[in-house]
Amino acid sequence: MRSAIIFYSLEGNTRTAANQLAKTLGADLFEIRTVKEYPKKGLGKFLIGGRDSSFGRLPALQPLEVNPADYDVVVLALPMWAGKAAAPINSFIKSHDFGSSKVALMISSASGDAGSCAKDLAAKLGRSVGNMATLSLTNPGRMAPAELTEQVNGFVRTLRGEAGGAF
Ligand SMILES: Cc1cc2nc3c(=O)[nH]c(=O)nc-3n(C[C@H](O)[C@H](O)[C@H](O)COP(=O)(O)O)c2cc1C
Repeated sequence: MRSAIIFYSLEGNTRTAANQLAKTLGADLFEIRTVKEYPKKGLGKFLIGGRDSSFGRLPALQPLEVNPADYDVVVLALPMWAGKAAAPINSFIKSHDFGSSKVALMISSASGDAGSCAKDLAAKLGRSVGNMATLSLTNPGRMAPAELTEQVNGFVRTLRGEAGGAF
């Protein structure tokens, strides 16, 4: 059973959780990077990222050597921006074929309420949201390590259970 975590992170929260998930799951880890970095502070941080996610703008990405369709399970890990997926994830989805891979989601947000974001992603992937295991984390970079471990371990049990214990 081959698994991959493909993530984007602006401020490090998703990166922290994705690293932990990759280690626990034994998955390959890939980071999506934009050609032009989004601002990390000031008003621009929310305005530019929020605008791109809201209006479906697709920022250019740096090359990334990964074919999602090669994996049995692909976890897309991302921050929620303006109630939707962070724009760089949309660029990745648009330019890659997921084939018959099972797709799961790990979504970081400030509110912990990632339902609208999961629905948005399901539509973009052409999948049913009910068929995608989803872990919603509240700013995982600031979580107590034991709590993050517990959440990640629970998610790994779900992913392994769905795969019939095959990995
Ligand atoms: C442009 C932008 C828009 C955001 N919009 C939301 C939002 O609608 N709801 C929410 O709960 N958090 C929102 N956030 C907060 C992030 O989702 C949250 O801090 C997340 O953990 C950041 O992940 P990262 O550190 O991996 O970038 C937003 C952050 C940014 C930069």
